Amino acid sequence: MYAITGITGKVGDAVARTLLAGGQSVRAVVRNADKGQVWRKRGCKVALATIEDAASLSAAFQGAEAVFVLVPPNFDPSPEFSDAREIGKALHSALAAARPKRVVYLSTIGAQAREMNLLSQHSIIEKAIDDLPMPITFLRPAWFMENCRWDVAPARETGVVPSFLQPLDKPVPMVATADIGKLAAGLLQEKWEGHRVAELEGPTRVTPNQIATTFAKLLGKPVRMKVVPRESWDALFRSQGMKNPVPRMRMLDGFNEGWIEFERKEAGSQKGSTTLETVLKSLVEEDPKVLTK
Ligand SMILES: NC(=O)c1ccc[n+]([C@@H]2O[C@H](COP(=O)([O-])OP(=O)(O)OC[C@H]3O[C@@H](n4cnc5c(N)ncnc54)[C@H](OP(=O)(O)O)[C@@H]3O)[C@@H](O)[C@H]2O)c1
Repeated sequence: MYAITGITGKVGDAVARTLLAGGQSVRAVVRNADKGQVWRKRGCKVALATIEDAASLSAAFQGAEAVFVLVPPNFDPSPEFSDAREIGKALHSALAAARPKRVVYLSTIGAQAREMNLLSQHSIIEKAIDDLPMPITFLRPAWFMENCRWDVAPARETGVVPSFLQPLDKPVPMVATADIGKLAAGLLQEKWEGHRVAELEGPTRVTPNQIATTFAKLLGKPVRMKVVPRESWDALFRSQGMKNPVPRMRMLDGFNEGWIEFERKEAGSQKGSTTLETVLKSLVEEDPKVLTK
């Protein structure tokens, strides 16, 4: 049995569906019993747990062949990353108590970077569980193509998409969550020793301008990207309610300046097969009014 956290989100859903399609048994770890119902109907057992609570997590991990650990995104962490430190402690305690045979932890590209940024949350949690005795794979995917969900409305309504990734012709490592799910499901079923890192991106790197031309093709209208000037980010993010925009800004700097990168660079990362066009098409189709062709 494989215990899957974050199963109601994008990556967890893809991991669980891949395992179920392969005839594997899945325990859906949810924080809301109602959200567990759909997974029960798909044949899963359901456990209730939150990522901050070691006792419920430990119970959810008991008896698992392998555990998929997904920490929910936090775009506005406290300056000391206290949430990540607390989650690291809870996870350590839960895994040490439940002792699953193997763990796949969903981390991120650039978790090895020394500069403080939003992704430091994963560096902290990786470190917090790194002394556990069971085999662990730190799965480090690229920027999710699904982040373009926020670009659909501006592309459709104005044909101008604001871009924090810049310059607009710089290729960025990106990946579809479907490919992360497939790789994670495979890793959970592998046997390995010790702790290791798996790095994953899509078939090719993607520039912001390519995102615009792909939207233009799908929407049947001109679409272009527009740089959001770096000097406006702090005020913009604060106006959107963020209390501590610096980690997010430094993460964007890291992608733009190239210091958020795979340890083994592009040549050493695994490659998924899902293209940007496939992902953008599904994002556009989420709202049928959007698709004009
Ligand atoms: N976006 C990127 O470009 C990128 C790149 C690399 C790595 N990552 C990492 O990928 C992860 C996000 O994956 P995703 O996009 O699949 O997430 P997602 O779609 O936002 O889903 C988040 C999941 O976490 C669950 N959750 C939220 N709060 C929880 C809590 N307190 N305890 C337990 N579960 C909780 C949610 O459950 P509910 O349904 O109950 O809310 C949901 O299942 C993050 O760790 C992020 O840092 C993201």
